[in-house]
Amino acid sequence: MTDAFISLQSIRKTYGPVVAVDNVDLDIAKGSFFSLLGPSGCGKTTLLTMLGGLDKPTAGRIMLDGVDVTSVPSYRRPTNMVFQSYAIFPHLSVGDNVGYGLRRQKLDRAEWQHRVDAMLELVHLKGYGDRQPSQLSGGQMQRVALARALIVQPKVLLLDEPLSALDKRLRQSMQIELRAIQREVGITFVFVTHDQEEALTLSDKIAVMSKGKVLQCCPPTDLYDLPINREVAEFVGEMNLIPGIVKGCTTETVCISMPSFGDQQFPVGGRSFSKGDKVLVAVRPENFEIADGPEGRELTIVNRAYFGTHLHFMMTGEGLETPLTVSVPSAIARAHGKAVNSDRMTIQVVPETAVILPQAG
Ligand SMILES: Nc1ncnc2c1ncn2[C@@H]1O[C@H](COP(=O)(O)OP(=O)(O)OP(=O)(O)O)[C@@H](O)[C@H]1O
Ligand SMILES: [Mg+2]
Repeated sequence: MTDAFISLQSIRKTYGPVVAVDNVDLDIAKGSFFSLLGPSGCGKTTLLTMLGGLDKPTAGRIMLDGVDVTSVPSYRRPTNMVFQSYAIFPHLSVGDNVGYGLRRQKLDRAEWQHRVDAMLELVHLKGYGDRQPSQLSGGQMQRVALARALIVQPKVLLLDEPLSALDKRLRQSMQIELRAIQREVGITFVFVTHDQEEALTLSDKIAVMSKGKVLQCCPPTDLYDLPINREVAEFVGEMNLIPGIVKGCTTETVCISMPSFGDQQFPVGGRSFSKGDKVLVAVRPENFEIADGPEGRELTIVNRAYFGTHLHFMMTGEGLETPLTVSVPSAIARAHGKAVNSDRMTIQVVPETAVILPQAG
């Protein structure tokens, strides 16, 4: 038993020989902004359409607000969906588009208008009710689609890459708006994206998917700071993977020998290691320090790029399959003017920030 608002239990979906969703278990809390994140073809849309009742799982059970909805058709579920394409009726005004879902509710004209106006205000389109869809921008169209989906007050709103057709800047401002709207209405949002930055920005919780499976499900900060394996580490944000071998381990620290950095102690972080284990020390670009201490190692700078707020270095060293990406805040770089402008620079890993992952699997 689970007290989750939405509970996907051992969900599987196959299309002939293709396993689109492979035994997924997920709990989603009421009123949360939950994202499904993963590369193209990993099963995000398939999972979302099963939640919305547009498709049926091959096996498994879907519970929604205490009710088994696995066999309940879409039109009888308390869910509504917003798609990537706007799916707006071109021949109806903006107001009629937004109010379309109310047609079965037999409201009088004043009540109908009141509900439509409130929704237009929510999505910052006050006064746009009489416009035609052809007179709207992409961002405005998507807001009409959102208002139309929300006006029927679903318990769950399912959104399949709703912002991916928008250019970067508009998309970023729509992300902030979408999150604000979700907080205001308090409806549970299940949001599909293949954009990790978007998922990190918006979500209370993220499920990372790959090949039909959920690899990790947790809040954004945990996903970024404590990826569970190499695949998640490489998919979410930029990650350096430094090969090493476990030399020894206590209950608190593990000593790892890395060809490029020598021997270094790291917190164990609840994992267990044996001497001789082949591991990867996963380090975000911002988690290196320019250092001259005994832990520091001199690596070769093969490339540098200026990004305003910080400098990016590509650095090579012994035993590294690919160059490391090292990010240094501009203010720090200025203070180390000589080092950052040389061919070689001494850096060290900040031990508390590194995650030790198994090399295999
Ligand atoms: N109706 C279908 N018939 C056969 N195979 C399908 C069908 N729908 C989806 N698939 C397959 O199931 C897998 C998952 O597809 P899905 O659309 O869920 O991926 P996705 O994560 O949403 O990808 P994208 O980011 O490209 O939208 C893919 O291999 C896809 O080809
Ligand atoms: Mg999809």
